[in-house]
Amino acid sequence: MTLRSRYLAAWAAAVLCLCWVTAATAAEAEGDVQPANQAGVPAHWKHNCGLLEVCNNPAACPIMRETPPEQFTVRFKTNVGSFRMRVTTAWAPPFATRMWQLARLRYMDGARFYRVVRDNFNPAVPHKPPFVIQFGYNGVPEIDNCWDNKMTSNDTAPVVPPGNLRGYVSFSMGAVETKTDQTPYCTYPIASYCAIGFSQNIFINLANNTRLDGPGFAIFGVVPAEDMSVVDRIYGGYGEVTELCPAGSNSTYCNGYGDSNQGVSMDRLVNPTDGGNRYLITRKPLLSYIRSMELLSCKGKSRRC
Ligand SMILES: *[C@@H]1O[C@H](CO)[C@@H](O)[C@H](O)[C@H]1NC(C)=O
Ligand SMILES: *[C@@H]1O[C@H](CO)[C@@H](O)[C@H](O)[C@H]1NC(C)=O
Ligand SMILES: *[C@@H]1O[C@H](CO)[C@@H](O)[C@H](O)[C@H]1NC(C)=O
Repeated sequence: MTLRSRYLAAWAAAVLCLCWVTAATAAEAEGDVQPANQAGVPAHWKHNCGLLEVCNNPAACPIMRETPPEQFTVRFKTNVGSFRMRVTTAWAPPFATRMWQLARLRYMDGARFYRVVRDNFNPAVPHKPPFVIQFGYNGVPEIDNCWDNKMTSNDTAPVVPPGNLRGYVSFSMGAVETKTDQTPYCTYPIASYCAIGFSQNIFINLANNTRLDGPGFAIFGVVPAEDMSVVDRIYGGYGEVTELCPAGSNSTYCNGYGDSNQGVSMDRLVNPTDGGNRYLITRKPLLSYIRSMELLSCKGKSRRC
């Protein structure tokens, strides 16, 4: 298996590379993580687009041809409460369009908040300040790998003000070391890399991360301030993902509350034989998760949601 760099975010000067293993064998959908659970979905939103089928043949799914309204709100019902995400399409149309598709498909039903980098560790131990909560993998490796491989887009958009501040939401992206035609909004060489390529993983900024603006992490939505108390309850005790922690690191940032290397392994997460939500539920049982994502309201178009 090949290790490919993917989903970068900057941490001070260091480049944080979330890595994944490419794989394409089958994995069965599991129990409560069946994709596109349409229980409770209004009749006019029901669809027959399976997440794997959409990936393999997007043209056959009408949702993939929809243009998003000017604004829409997605509600995430999680095991620690509900929070909303307000998307403004004009901020970053390609990202808003993908978020619209993900919400219409309910891609994140069952998704775990697998990367929670936050200042909630033992205050007696030196630590880094809050950073992000990253999520989006549906938890069925066959589906997540397909989307990473086939549904990744290099579309881009400028970072509109106020940029990556607390509550604002961006897509996780890959990176290249220099600016290219495909990374027009990157300030490289001021930024140490340029963000490119997104699929289904997003992150909520927990603090002022405007250092992510330079590489081009375009914000497309925001969690209203009054809902951030729910986001702050998302479990963060496992620390940073293992691929971003040096071997033998003993920091709480990397090791969570206790044992060494408690973080989620990104490689394992997308491993078709023993990854996905089966891995997370058995090995990282305290992770918070999304019970359902649903569209709450739309503005600017005669579209019922
Ligand atoms: C996106 O850009 C990267 C880096 O230039 C390239 O490797 C990849 O093939 C591109 N992907 C798509 C879908 O165009
Ligand atoms: C965010 O951080 C940057 C860099 O430290 C700083 O210049 C800016 O004023 C901060 N913005 C807010 C709203 O705190
Ligand atoms: C953690 O690592 C630092 C730097 O290597 C070292 O000084 C410290 O003693 C270590 N702490 C523990 C608890 O191992």
